[in-house]
Amino acid sequence: MPTLLIENIKKLVLTEENPKTKKSGKEMSKLPSKENAWLFLKDGKIANYGTMPDLSNANLRPDKTIDATGKMVLPAFCDSHTHLVYPASREIEYVDKIKGLSYEEIAKRGGGILNSAKKMKQTTVAELVDSALERLEEIKIFGTGAVEIKSGYGLDTEQELKMLYAIRKLKELSPLTIKATFLGAHSIPAEYRGKQEEYVDIVINEMIPVVASEGLAEYIDVFCDKGFFTVEDTERILMAGLKYGLIPKIHANELDFSGGIQVGVKYGALSVDHLEYTGDAEIASLLNSDTMPTILPGAAFFLNMPYAPARKMIDAGLPVAMATDFNPGSSPSGNMQLILSMASILYRLTPEEAVNACTINAAYAMGLSEELGTITVGKKANVIITKEIPTVEYLPYYYGSNKVETVILNGEVV
Ligand code: NIG
Ligand code: FE
Repeated sequence: MPTLLIENIKKLVLTEENPKTKKSGKEMSKLPSKENAWLFLKDGKIANYGTMPDLSNANLRPDKTIDATGKMVLPAFCDSHTHLVYPASREIEYVDKIKGLSYEEIAKRGGGILNSAKKMKQTTVAELVDSALERLEEIKIFGTGAVEIKSGYGLDTEQELKMLYAIRKLKELSPLTIKATFLGAHSIPAEYRGKQEEYVDIVINEMIPVVASEGLAEYIDVFCDKGFFTVEDTERILMAGLKYGLIPKIHANELDFSGGIQVGVKYGALSVDHLEYTGDAEIASLLNSDTMPTILPGAAFFLNMPYAPARKMIDAGLPVAMATDFNPGSSPSGNMQLILSMASILYRLTPEEAVNACTINAAYAMGLSEELGTITVGKKANVIITKEIPTVEYLPYYYGSNKVETVILNGEVV
C-alpha cells in the first residue's frame, strides 16, 4: 500500500499521544491540536505526525503527498447509531407528522417501524445492499469513516437475518468500518399486540441463537420505551444475548422515563441512546458505569421532541457521544456535520465538546475507541481533510454545507 504524507496542515485536530478510550465531563472541552503540521500514513495506519519545521528530520519518503495549506485534518467521524439498511423511504408519514400525529399515534396505526417491516418482506438482500451502499457513499462524503448499522425492520427470524446478511455484505464491499447490531426487539409486530411476551420468546429462543451462531452481530439492542418493550422484556432479551456474547447497546428514554437507562447500565450496555427523558436518577446511574450516553439530535429535531439534557450530563461529569440515528422514520439524514452543528446550537456543546462527541466518544459507543477517533500513532488511518476553513469553530457554525474535501479511509483516499 502506498505511503501518504499530508503536509502544510493548517491545524491537525485531536492529536492524542496516549488517548483515553472516552472523554468525560471537563475533558470533553479539550481538543489537543497541532498547527502547521504534517501527518504520515503507512499500511493503513497513522505512522507519525509533527509540525512542518520538523518534517525534514523525520526522513520520510512518501509515495504520495497532499498539500493541505489552509485546510484542517481531523479523525473521520464515527456514527455509532444508524438504521441505514432499510427497504424504502417514509415521507408520507412525515407529512402526517406535520399535520399533527405523534410518533406513537403513527406507530399505533401500523405506520412507523411496522410500515418498514411490511416493505422488508418484498425486498431482496441485493436490493437492501444496493440502496445502503448509496447511503454509505453519501455519509462518507460528509466525513463519516465508521458506522454502526442495526437490523430491526424484519421482526421475524427470516427477515431479521436478511437485514443482517445485507450488513455482512456491506462490511465486505465498503471501505467504512462497520459494526452490526441485532435489533429484533425494535417494535411489536401487529399479530403479537397484547401478548408481546410471546414475541420476546421468539427473539430469545429463535433469533438470538442463530444470529450469534452465524456471527452476524456484535451488539444487541432493544427499544425499551413507552408503547414498545418493557424493562422486564429488555432484561430477558439482554440476558439471553449476553449468554451468546452479544453486548447491549439500547434505545432508551426517548418517549418517557422508561427505566431503559438503568436497565442498560445494569447489564453493562456499551451505550444507551436517545435519552430525551433523563433526570437526576438516570444521571446518577450512568455516573457509576462504563456505558456511553449517546444523544441522537437528528431524531429529536425531526420529530420535534424535547432535547436530551446534554449540557447537564456533561456538567455532571458524564461523557456524551452524538450520532445520526439515520433511518427512514425519525431521522432521514446521516450527515455527521449537521450533528456537530446541532450539538452546539440545540444542545449548547462547545465546538470542542461537539467534535469529541462525534469522534472519540462515538468510537467508544461502537467499541472502536482503541483504533479510531483520535490522531494517534498506530490507530487506523481514517481521517478527513477539510476545505479551506478559518477555524475549528467554523465547522459547526457554517451549517448545512459540506466542509469536507477529502476522505481517507484505511490510509487511502476514497
Ligand atoms: O431510533 N426509536 C426507535 N427507533 C428508531 C426509529 C426507526 C423508525 O421509525 O423507522 C429511532 O428513532
Ligand atoms: Fe435508532
